[in-house]
Amino acid sequence: MEQPDHLQPKNFPRLVNDSFLCACRKQDTSHVPVWCMRQAGRYLPEFRETRAAQDFFETCRSPEICCELTLQPLRRFPLDAAIIFSDILVIPQALGMEVHMEPGRGPVFSEPLKDPEDMKKLKTKIDVVEELGYVFRAITLTRHKLEGRVPLIGFTGAPWTLMTYMIEGGGSNTMSKAKRWLYQHPKISHTLLQLLTDVIVDYLVGQVAAGAQALQVFESHAGCLGPKQFSEFALPYLRSIASRVKSKLKSDNMDAVPMIVFAKDGHYAIEELAESSYDVIGLDWTMCPKEVRQKLAGRKALQGNLDPCALYASKENIEKMVKQMLEDFGHQGYIANLGHGLYPDMDPEHVGAFVDAVHKFSKTETKEN
Ligand code: CP3
Repeated sequence: MEQPDHLQPKNFPRLVNDSFLCACRKQDTSHVPVWCMRQAGRYLPEFRETRAAQDFFETCRSPEICCELTLQPLRRFPLDAAIIFSDILVIPQALGMEVHMEPGRGPVFSEPLKDPEDMKKLKTKIDVVEELGYVFRAITLTRHKLEGRVPLIGFTGAPWTLMTYMIEGGGSNTMSKAKRWLYQHPKISHTLLQLLTDVIVDYLVGQVAAGAQALQVFESHAGCLGPKQFSEFALPYLRSIASRVKSKLKSDNMDAVPMIVFAKDGHYAIEELAESSYDVIGLDWTMCPKEVRQKLAGRKALQGNLDPCALYASKENIEKMVKQMLEDFGHQGYIANLGHGLYPDMDPEHVGAFVDAVHKFSKTETKEN
């Protein structure tokens, strides 16, 4: 039986606000586009209410709830992009690992990878449609329900960041178990990183086929690697993801989509990342926008980077900080965002003040002719 239109990745509504996609491509926009990492999150009372009913990963497996959670921040704020509600840890799950979310503690793996022998427990080849089709269905539904208001961003965790979770079994301050693998078992670490890269490429292409209009790769744990280890264990995989996704989209006759890389605390790798096929480099708040602009000499669009904690400041001060940030980045080839995700105790009104300030200080009069 033919499925109804809103469940199929075709006949999507025409995109009305394309400022985010234009900025990714360094084209002129009428204002600086803005979105927030973790904009669908626990700081919103309506999110807590929707999420309260069931387990976190059950939520991730329900396209209707993912769609609702994705749309919630857009009902409150004039954001210029939506990001699909999901999680980076759906990939380790697809490879056969058991993960659950413990309230107050975060993700917990029941059997993390302890030594290279444990690699045998992982599936070596997976069909992403079979294992992660629920994410694709959430993307398709959400793209329809957005009614073309703003573009929808898909995402993944990067191989190194996923490897840390799979070995540490959850959050960690030192990442010492995962880093031990890099020093004691470099070859098998590369095997694991390559396996993750292969799955990620199929997963991202699948997200675009399902309706994602841009992709962000989260290398959230770049900071625990020094420049040398980053060059060996993170960068090659990040680069390969961007180039393989782009060539696969081309060979499958799909339109190219902008790709964003966000390597948190990876300041030492900015120039190398700028030589990759990503369109946009995401900056965390420890980086100085002017310096990065100078270093990269306009090669890439930039995204970021207000300290999320700046949202604890008064609304007046948020405005001042946003004004300064816009001056430092310049308005072209720039997407305003925070330097990392929103925290659960943040005041939604202050998030609104951040978004409004970006628009207020960056709107240009439409030029005649
Ligand atoms: O940005 C968005 O609004 C989209 C949704 C999104 C979530 N996770 C939902 C989520 C995105 C993009 C992610 C990515 C993600 N997940 C990352 C990379 C980004 C980053 O923060 O560096 C990481 C490292 C994870 C793993 C993860 N998921 C952790 C460490 C936690 C616990 C943190 C916490 O705040 O408790 C999660 C849970 C999670 N993922 C929540 C949300 C909204 C909160 C838990 C809940 O709703 O019960």
